[in-house]
Amino acid sequence: MTTALITGASGQTGSYLCELLLSKGYTVYGIVRRNSNFQYEAPRLAHIKDPNFKLIYGDLVDNPSMVAAIEQSMPDEIYNLGSQSDVRISFDIPTYTSLVNAMGAINFFENARHICPAVKIYQASTSELFGNSIDDDGFQRETTPMIPVSPYGASKLFAYNQAKIYRQSYGMYITNGILFNHESPRRGDNFVTNKVVDYATRISRGENVKLPLGNLAAERDWGHAKDYSNAIYEMLQLNSPDDFVVATGVAYNVEHLVKYVFEKLNLIWQDHVVIDDNLYRPLDINRLCGDNTKLTKAINWKHSYTFETLIDEMLEERIVC
Ligand code: NAP
Ligand code: GDD
Repeated sequence: MTTALITGASGQTGSYLCELLLSKGYTVYGIVRRNSNFQYEAPRLAHIKDPNFKLIYGDLVDNPSMVAAIEQSMPDEIYNLGSQSDVRISFDIPTYTSLVNAMGAINFFENARHICPAVKIYQASTSELFGNSIDDDGFQRETTPMIPVSPYGASKLFAYNQAKIYRQSYGMYITNGILFNHESPRRGDNFVTNKVVDYATRISRGENVKLPLGNLAAERDWGHAKDYSNAIYEMLQLNSPDDFVVATGVAYNVEHLVKYVFEKLNLIWQDHVVIDDNLYRPLDINRLCGDNTKLTKAINWKHSYTFETLIDEMLEERIVC
C-alpha cells in the first residue's frame, strides 16, 4: 500500500487530492493546522470517512511538527501544497508568506533528505513565478523567464529553485508543478471567481449588496482543481522528476468572468459592481495563459472542464446552498 503525506490537505486542491489518492487505495496522512474552533479546522475534509485517511496537526513554520509528521507517516510520496496562497494578502504579510512558502518548503526538502531521501516530492509551484513575462505567442511555458511581481510569487520562486537544487545536488525526486489558476466550488471566497459567484447569487436572491472589485482587465487561465489534482498525481508517477506547466491554454479577463456569471443569473453586471481602488494590487500580472505541451507529452492528461462548465458548477453549488 502506498503512503502519501500532504501539506495543505485542508485547502481547495489538497482536499481533492486526498479523495483521489484514497480512491486509488493509498494511505493518506493530511497535515492540518490546529484551530481553537474545531469547526473551522478542516471543513473541506469533514466528509471523508475512509479509515486509511489520517490527520496530523502541524504547521510549516513549526519545523519539529513537520519532522514528526514525516517520521510518523514514513511516506512514499509527499505533496507540499501548504501555503499562504493569497497573492494580494502577500503584500500585507510578506514575511509570514515567505516563512510558510519559502522556508517551509526548504525545511521540508531538508527533512526529507535526512529522513526518507528516496521519497517522491511534489512542490506546488505556480504561474505567479512568471510575473509579467510572456512569450511572443502570448503563452507562458517552462522556458519563459520567471520574474515574479508579488511577495507570494517571489517566495514560490525560492521554493521552485530549491526544488531544482535538491534534485540536482542530491538526486532527490522533486517535481515542480507550475499550475495556472484552478478553481472549484471549494475555492476560498477571497479569490475572484468564488467572490463573484458568491455576490452574484446573493444579489439574485434579492440581497441588497454591491460587489466591490479591483482590476477587471487582468486575464487568467482558469481550470478546475479536480482536473489539476489528477495532473499532480500523474506527474508524480513518472520515473524521473521534472518541471511542468499545468494549464488549459485559454484565458479570459475578470470583466468577462463577471459578465458571464451575472448573465447566467439574468442580471446586468454594471448595475451591481463597484470598483474599489483598495482592491488593486501594488503590482499585478496582466495576463496568464499556459502552454501545457510538455505535460501532455509526458502524461496522459486532458482537462475535462472548460471555463464555462467550471463556472456553471460553482454557480450550481451556490444556488443549491
Ligand atoms: P488554499 O485553498 O489556500 O489552501 C492552502 C492550504 O495551505 C490550506 O490547507 C492551509 O491550511 C494550508 N496552510 C496555510 N498556511 C500553512 C502553514 N503555515 N502550515 C501548514 N499549512 C498551511 O490553496 P489551493 O488553491 O488549494 O492551492 C494549493 C497549493 O497550490 C498552494 O501551495 C498554492 O500556493 C498553490 N497554487 C494554487 C493555485 C490555484 O490557482 N489554486 C495555482 C498555483 C499554485 P488552513 O486550511 O489551515 O488555512
Ligand atoms: N482576489 C481578488 N479580489 N482578485 C481580484 C479582485 C477582487 O476583488 N478584483 C480583481 N481581481 C483580480 C486580481 O487583481 C487578479 O489580477 C485576478 O483578479 C485574479 O485574482 P485571484 O483570484 O486572487 O488569483 P491570483 O491570480 O492572484 O492568484 C491565484 O492563482 C495563482 C496562480 O496564478 C492564487 O490561487 C495563487 O495561490 C496561485 O498561485
